[in-house]
Formats: sequence, structure tokens, C-alpha cells
Amino acid sequence: MSDNRVALVTGASRGIGAAIASRLAADGWDLTISSRGQEALEQRADELRDVGAGRVEVIPADMTDADAVEGLAAAHAEAFGRCDALVINAGMGQKGAVADLPVRRFDRLYQVNVRAPYILLQSLIPTLRSTAQAHGSSKVIAVASITGVYPEPELSAYGATKAALISLCETFNLEESLNGLSATTIAPGYVDTDMSGWLKDQIPADEMITVGDVATMAHAVTQLSRFAVLPNVILTRPGTNLHRA
Ligand SMILES: NC(=O)c1ccc[n+]([C@@H]2O[C@H](COP(=O)([O-])OP(=O)(O)OC[C@H]3O[C@@H](n4cnc5c(N)ncnc54)[C@H](OP(=O)(O)O)[C@@H]3O)[C@@H](O)[C@H]2O)c1
Repeated sequence: MSDNRVALVTGASRGIGAAIASRLAADGWDLTISSRGQEALEQRADELRDVGAGRVEVIPADMTDADAVEGLAAAHAEAFGRCDALVINAGMGQKGAVADLPVRRFDRLYQVNVRAPYILLQSLIPTLRSTAQAHGSSKVIAVASITGVYPEPELSAYGATKAALISLCETFNLEESLNGLSATTIAPGYVDTDMSGWLKDQIPADEMITVGDVATMAHAVTQLSRFAVLPNVILTRPGTNLHRA
């Protein structure tokens, strides 16, 4: 088992996942980073080492492929034997009204935003439990969305998958928190990343939540003792629409 604190971060090649990985790296964590493209991950791994990470493992996996997701969890457990933070961040968006969005698109959203998190949680429970037993606690940090809490027109399928992710993590807390494992979902409104690029002509990037804001919340969760369970954090943009993305 590694002596450093260890995290597995999905969707770590850019955006929110890259920012969370970087924040943990600055504290000297060991990391497994994952997304689909090997090259972007290798580049990110070098940057993480530069800012202070210990060992960094690059394990590409497509979250639509159940076997690959299981393989990612197994490879992480094999490499480190420890998981202080499982950061479930890889996700995809899809815009469309209930009247229009094809079911095949809903299926893909579900695979990435719900099924893959379920597989990761299930596969890593033994490692999360042994980490909590040896070191006091282990955390699951899942990046959901404000649309999983407050419905948003045109984001029906996306919001439904994020609501499912929040529910999954809440149940996980009921089942596992007495063992020192707990899950926190972070549910932001629009964050300035590639994913929100389609609407930056309506909401300027510099008026969106920053990736640093989300990384700060994720980092704070890693500081909590096993006796403090934080189920969900909503990050909303300033203004009068507190419940809108
Ligand atoms: N940006 C927002 O406004 C916002 C708001 C609320 C919540 N969120 C949530 O925040 C999380 C991160 O999003 P982001 O804004 O940082 O988006 P992003 O910049 O587009 O990054 C998405 C990350 O997920 C990876 N990814 C996408 N599809 C994948 C797949 N099928 N398999 C494996 N990895 C995949 C991407 O890497 P590759 O493409 O290289 O695979 C990338 O590393 C998502 O869960 C998203 O739903 C975003």
C-alpha cells in the first residue's frame, strides 16, 4: 500500500477533473488519472509531477465501455492498493427537450454519467474500505450538476442522469459511512470549461463558476474527518436565478 494519499480522478485530461487533480498534486498526492486520450493524459501527468504529485499512473478508459471502467478500477487498486479519494468527474452533456432528444442519446448519457460511476463505486469498495480502515476515512467526490437538483429546460436527460448520480451517492452514504467511507456530490451551475462552450455567447466565460472553485470544494472534502458526511454541495452563479444552471 502506498504511503502517500492516493486519488483516482476520471475526466482528468482537462476542465474540472484536471483542476481537481492539480489541487491534490500540490499536496503531494499519488494519482491515477483517466479519460479517453492517452496523449492528453501523459501531458497532464507531467504537469502534475511538476506541481508536486508523487507517483502518477495514466490509465485511459472510455466510460461508455463497462469492461474498460472495471479495468480502470482494477488497475488502480493493483497499482496503489489504496484510494483515499475516488473522484468521479468524467461526464458528458446533451441538450434537448424531452419532446426531441433521441433515446439513444439518453442511453449514452446514462452510460457515462450513471453506469460508469456505479461500476467504479462497486469495484473500488474493497479498496475504499481497506483505506478507511488503515487511514481513518476514504472519500468519494462525484461531480454532478445543479440540473440534478433543480430541473432546467432542455437539459432533461442530462439532469436526470445527474439526479441519479446524487441518489446513488446518498444511498452509498447510508450503506457505507459507518465504515469510514463517504460520498459528496458537487452540483455546480455553468463552469467555464469546454463543456459549456456552446453557450458562451449568452453567458460570458468570465461570469461562470471557475474550475478552481470546484477544485477548492473537492479539496475541502478530502480534509473532512470520517465523522463529517457532506452529502451534496450546490454551487450557483450570482444573481436572482439561484436555482438555474
Ligand atoms: N462545465 C459545466 O458547465 C459543468 C457544470 C456542472 C457539472 N459539470 C460536470 O463536470 C464534469 C466535468 O466536466 P467539464 O466541464 O470539466 O468538461 P470537459 O472540460 O469537457 O471535460 C470532460 C472530461 O471528461 C472526459 N470524458 C468525456 N467523455 C468521456 C468518456 N466517454 N470516457 C472517459 N472520459 C470522458 C474528457 O476527456 P476525453 O474527451 O479525453 O475522454 C475530459 O477529461 C462532468 O461530469 C460534467 O457533467 C460541468
